[in-house]
Amino acid sequence: MHKTTQKTFYHDPVLLEESVSYLLTDPSGIYVDCTLGGGGHSEAILEKLAPVGRLIGIDRDETAIQFASQRLQSYKNQFQAVCSPFSKIEQVLQSLEIHSVSGLLLDLGISSPQIDEGERGFSYMTEGPLDMRMSSDDPISAFDIINTYPERELADLFYIYSEERLSRRIARKIVHNRNESPIRTTRELADIVRGCVPGKYQIKSLSRVFQALRIVVNQELDQLKHCFQNGYSFLAPCSRVVVITYHSLEARMVKRYFRGDDPTFSKEDPVTPMPKYHFRILTKKAILPSEAEIQRNPRARSAALRCGERIEIL
Ligand SMILES: C[S@@+](CC[C@H](N)C(=O)[O-])C[C@H]1O[C@@H](n2cnc3c(N)ncnc32)[C@H](O)[C@@H]1O
Repeated sequence: MHKTTQKTFYHDPVLLEESVSYLLTDPSGIYVDCTLGGGGHSEAILEKLAPVGRLIGIDRDETAIQFASQRLQSYKNQFQAVCSPFSKIEQVLQSLEIHSVSGLLLDLGISSPQIDEGERGFSYMTEGPLDMRMSSDDPISAFDIINTYPERELADLFYIYSEERLSRRIARKIVHNRNESPIRTTRELADIVRGCVPGKYQIKSLSRVFQALRIVVNQELDQLKHCFQNGYSFLAPCSRVVVITYHSLEARMVKRYFRGDDPTFSKEDPVTPMPKYHFRILTKKAILPSEAEIQRNPRARSAALRCGERIEIL
């Protein structure tokens, strides 16, 4: 488990009412919250379920599982938390002998406590080791990437995953500095980025570089692809998939999936000849947080909710 000094794992759930009302069609159904986090969405789902309804909460972060299990212990007959990456949804559901579900919720990205805890190394605003792993079981940390990737691959990573325009300059400086001594902390990396980018653009570049690294460390796009692919066969007719995304690469994958295409992100964007997945899109336009929600919780500002309903093709 991650060493954490945090007593709580509180995360303010984003688009809470909207996501629960899109997700729940049958109060007696079985639902999966693939991104349990602090359990905010799960609690709101459980409040609305009938006594026979069930909810499985998945998270790859052991700290989240511990916190949410405590928080939701009064629902112990209806709720079960499983520590696993959501790409393994098939194994999780099989191990619980669940063959069909009424809905999946994915609230992507990271929880507030993961960002705020310096030791986790996710943020350029707090000092900590360059880690960024959501699960301590994951083999590769941000330190490994920053200190071993060739310059060209580092630059590509910053460009492909965050569209950072100064990616080459930043990669060159990283390699120059690590040749003197390894880059160990979030502050060291942040200082390198600041040194490459003019003042007024620094915050955006810092966010982009840290986000790109986080996506690669946690294989976030691969995780999403496998969750979509492996979860599909469990979706009952008329069940719903609700996804809250926080950046354009995730959003593109969700749109492709709901259109029936392979969700794999690719620069070439090949057209899949036959749709593999069958959904009716219930959100013609993504649902965005209100101004009031963003004021109350600025971390909601880039959120976008989409919902697809599984249809049967005869
Ligand atoms: C934005 S938070 C979810 C917050 C939650 N909805 C709540 O109300 O507290 C995202 C959570 O998903 C988890 N997560 C991200 N990617 C994951 C993956 N591939 N497999 C399992 N959990 C993942 C993170 O550890 C984090 O706790």
